[in-house]
Amino acid sequence: MTFVELARAVREQLGQEQRYGHVVRVARLADRLAARHGEDADKARRAGLLHDLARLYPAARLIEECERRRMPIAVFERANPIVLHARLGAELARERFGVDDPAILSAIRSHTVPTPGMSRLDEILHIADGVEPGRQYPERAALEKLAFRDLDSAMLGVINATLDYLRATGAEIAPPTLAARAVYQARAAQPLTLQPAIEGSSACPT
Ligand SMILES: [Fe+2]
Ligand SMILES: [Fe+2]
Repeated sequence: MTFVELARAVREQLGQEQRYGHVVRVARLADRLAARHGEDADKARRAGLLHDLARLYPAARLIEECERRRMPIAVFERANPIVLHARLGAELARERFGVDDPAILSAIRSHTVPTPGMSRLDEILHIADGVEPGRQYPERAALEKLAFRDLDSAMLGVINATLDYLRATGAEIAPPTLAARAVYQARAAQPLTLQPAIEGSSACPT
């Protein structure tokens, strides 16, 4: 499937222009970040387009579709079903769009909850999703710029912004997030000096 054909099919599957606009912006940014960091830009672009296929499913449908596929559901996921849209989205990409590339499927699976041990493509999608120009929070533009220089520091910044958002809204923090934060804190080339507070909605989880 060409990229244009894929985009058309994704638009139909999502059924909402706002979400389609988001995935196109994520795809464009992921493409540019991959090219900058020597990763596969075509895979990054496709992962970007496909990452939110299940994002608009209500909680009950997320759980029901995961159970139907006999996917294990962790305690945190059962309490916060929205995060399942990442893992279910990878299954939909495979079933409905014939995606069998493990790197693309891994990036889709890990785009919402950061974990230690993410691949570069996983990181690129996670960052592109968190800093695409449609999001509105004070550090967004600085993080986008930073991502072209240093993926580790950008990962740290995106994780911090997510944690700020979760704390501000009183939402539960996924267990691997803090472990991932420690990894990127140790790896980041430079101390982050971005504003820590975020305002408004960044529409997390992403
Ligand atoms: Fe998402
Ligand atoms: Fe997204």
